[in-house]
Amino acid sequence: MFGNMFSTDIGMDLGTCNTLVYIKGKGLVINEPSVVAIEKNTKRVISVGKEAKNMLLRTPTDIVAIRPLRDGVIADIETTEKMIRHFIAMGLPRRWLVKPRMVIGIPSCITEVERRAVEECAYKAGARDVKVIEESLAAAIGADIPIQEPAGNMICDIGGGTSEVSVISMSGIVVTKAIRVGGDEFDEAIAKHIRTVHKMIIGLQAAERIKIKIGSAYDSTNTIEKMEIGGTDTITGLPRRIEIDNLEVREALKEPVRSIIVTIKNTLAETPPELSADIIERGIVLTGGGALLQGLDILISKEVGVPVFIADEPLLCVAKGAGKYYDHMRGNIYRKSSKNSFGD
Ligand SMILES: Nc1ncnc2c1ncn2[C@@H]1O[C@H](COP(=O)(O)OP(=O)(O)OP(=O)(O)O)[C@@H](O)[C@H]1O
Ligand SMILES: [Mg+2]
Repeated sequence: MFGNMFSTDIGMDLGTCNTLVYIKGKGLVINEPSVVAIEKNTKRVISVGKEAKNMLLRTPTDIVAIRPLRDGVIADIETTEKMIRHFIAMGLPRRWLVKPRMVIGIPSCITEVERRAVEECAYKAGARDVKVIEESLAAAIGADIPIQEPAGNMICDIGGGTSEVSVISMSGIVVTKAIRVGGDEFDEAIAKHIRTVHKMIIGLQAAERIKIKIGSAYDSTNTIEKMEIGGTDTITGLPRRIEIDNLEVREALKEPVRSIIVTIKNTLAETPPELSADIIERGIVLTGGGALLQGLDILISKEVGVPVFIADEPLLCVAKGAGKYYDHMRGNIYRKSSKNSFGD
């Protein structure tokens, strides 16, 4: 009983782009880019999060700023552990009466070794109990989808490194497919387009700004939006500025967007028909930062023929859901046992 009174449940979305920490009763305490800047020789952490992101590709030779989770997996275990430790320290008092329980949302496509690495990181960072759950399950709980019902719910989480499409019924995943295509790939596609068409090199952060400002997957109004950007001329090596418009950005994004739609279609093709019928009625819910790409919901809906909704605060769903995971599961157990007590 004391354990419950004093212990904290921490939900963490360990994303390739952003790490979020949600604490039950307290809300979101950390929302930072998954970036760490370290001194090369000593391996000392200089900064984490926003400050470190500003240093990406701008560091002097003795400091490196890295994204330890690129592509949704733990590319660098040691640095990931340091990052988790820092974020927990930033969001929580240094000492707790009872060590926290931690639920971490991770992409379902990661390997068993990577999953264990995440668990180990969290234990080393001070958790008493660690549960690693699929990102889509966390996202669905965070988006308040009634997944405990015996009905098909489709969730599509479009993150930075991965997109994950899952069909969930009775709080369990029935079918899931993940691809290593997400917002990062959108940025790369924009940078590649500018390199080949405009003969100019831009950084990925500039490409991300273009995507957020004028990027889209579909636009029924066909209004033209322009944006000026600076970069390096591929031939002369000199800095220059060009103007690009939303139509060419949409064209550049076609390929990665198509991969996501194909994944949704493939997932539906493997979904049992009863659950498919539910999904047509309930629609597909989009979460993750990629869900905010202008018109993506409309395009998916047109291509797949199912209504599509964007979750409230799509960037926060996984962290919220991880933070509420224990309550959600307790609710399920309660429902089952109360049913039994009536002799069902
Ligand atoms: N308004 C927006 N329009 C388009 N894309 C956006 C917008 N806001 C954020 N994004 C993109 O969302 C992505 C980050 O989303 P999110 O935080 O869900 O990813 P993540 O959880 O870190 O990654 P993953 O789930 O793959 O590990 C980035 O690629 C970012 O550029
Ligand atoms: Mg994510």
